[in-house]
Amino acid sequence: MRTRPLKVALLGCGVVGSEVARIMTTHADDLAQRIGAPVELAGVAVRRPSKVREGIDPSLITTDATALLKRGDIDIAIEVIGGIEPARGLITTAFEHGVSVVSANKALLAQDGAALHAAAEQHGLDLYYEAAVAGAIPLVRPMRESLAGDKINRVMGIVNGTTNFILDKMDSTGAGYQEALDEATALGYAEADPTADVEGYDAAAKAAILAGIAFHTRVRLDDVYREGMTEVSAADFASAKRMGCTIKLLAILERAADGASVTARVHPAMIPLTHPLASVREAYNAVFVEAEAAGRLMFYGPGAGGAPTASAVLGDLVAVARNKLAEATGPGESAYTQLPVSPRGDVVTRYHISLDVADKPGVLAQVATTFAEHGVSIDTVRQQGKDGEASLVVVTHRAPDAALSGTVEALRKLDTVRGVASIMRVEGE
Ligand code: NDP
Ligand code: HSE
Repeated sequence: MRTRPLKVALLGCGVVGSEVARIMTTHADDLAQRIGAPVELAGVAVRRPSKVREGIDPSLITTDATALLKRGDIDIAIEVIGGIEPARGLITTAFEHGVSVVSANKALLAQDGAALHAAAEQHGLDLYYEAAVAGAIPLVRPMRESLAGDKINRVMGIVNGTTNFILDKMDSTGAGYQEALDEATALGYAEADPTADVEGYDAAAKAAILAGIAFHTRVRLDDVYREGMTEVSAADFASAKRMGCTIKLLAILERAADGASVTARVHPAMIPLTHPLASVREAYNAVFVEAEAAGRLMFYGPGAGGAPTASAVLGDLVAVARNKLAEATGPGESAYTQLPVSPRGDVVTRYHISLDVADKPGVLAQVATTFAEHGVSIDTVRQQGKDGEASLVVVTHRAPDAALSGTVEALRKLDTVRGVASIMRVEGE
């Protein structure tokens, strides 16, 4: 075993970074054996240097991350600051100074992954980011390496721990949205700005990364259709229950049947209680990957939190350190298929639509005619009347998003339709 250590710069020492530092210290001997050389924490960049950080040698703390990377003795940087800047500039500086990078930063990778991969390749270095998608779950590497000989056609799953935690609490305990979000934040699951979680940006960033890997194409964050979960109400859960369903925020990536394009979307959806994703509780994530030869694979585990995410970061650290010793690099970006991303209107799925209507003769027929005129076939209708008003719940067969949008627009114009209370996709059947 080499005795000269590989030197690691830790950029960020918050929820994830502090756990990375702890495990690097407590498991130092095992890591050295697995890598073939010791890995030494050579510097820790933070924003607030005076904050007490248990288990970290205060002499390692700096607020000048750039100077740390330029020092000349750093082999690997672990970026767990988050956000776009200064993370992007620091990763670029790392590459310019011969430093390979491990990152957990999905927001940055979804936005600038192509440029960062190109910079890593130009300098003959590694860029690894298993922790950026689905916390502790090994997913990026299995998709990129173990399934490299297969053809992935579909990926569907829960990729945000915070929103799954909130939806699970709302469903199982009747907790309010804010109360559940506060608990998820206190547990270290939420992003620095939890809007990224609840409005679906975090899941959309992960969806873009996964779609790129799955389909060997570039999928930008803007290509991902995104709806958050802030509008999901107790009434939606009650409706879902009546249908034998629950509600999850899903990321769904699909290759078109003709193979010529892909779709990527993130939105809340009703799924049957019998579907394996329905039993994914708290901040756990689960992802189905459907590949031509392998069939259907399910990846499941903790999707957020300091220690689980640190596990994924350390797995990357070991891989990158081994590459360093072998004077090699791991696989870079694979985007050779250059498939276009289809617009949202092309997506075909089932819908659950809840309407507030006048409770009088002919209304049901009028509503049914509107669906038929737009080519959307109805599966079930349930009506509940009260004081001249009624609530009408329509579940459709599979229909293109564009046809459903046209139907809803026409429904809103009917005198007898007082309002469209909710529209939710139904998946997993
Ligand atoms: P935190 O907010 O807990 O930690 C951020 C760290 O970055 C802090 O130590 C902070 O310093 C430091 N920092 C902020 N700005 C600077 C700067 N300009 N220079 C140097 N250091 C800086 O975030 P998390 O640990 O939760 O997340 C880190 C990354 O990991 C993000 O990309 C996130 O998306 C990702 N991630 C997080 C998961 C989780 O469950 N939390 C799961 C998977 C990925 P200080 O301590 O002084 O404030
Ligand atoms: N905020 C993210 C989540 C962290 O809740 O899933 C893990 O990526």
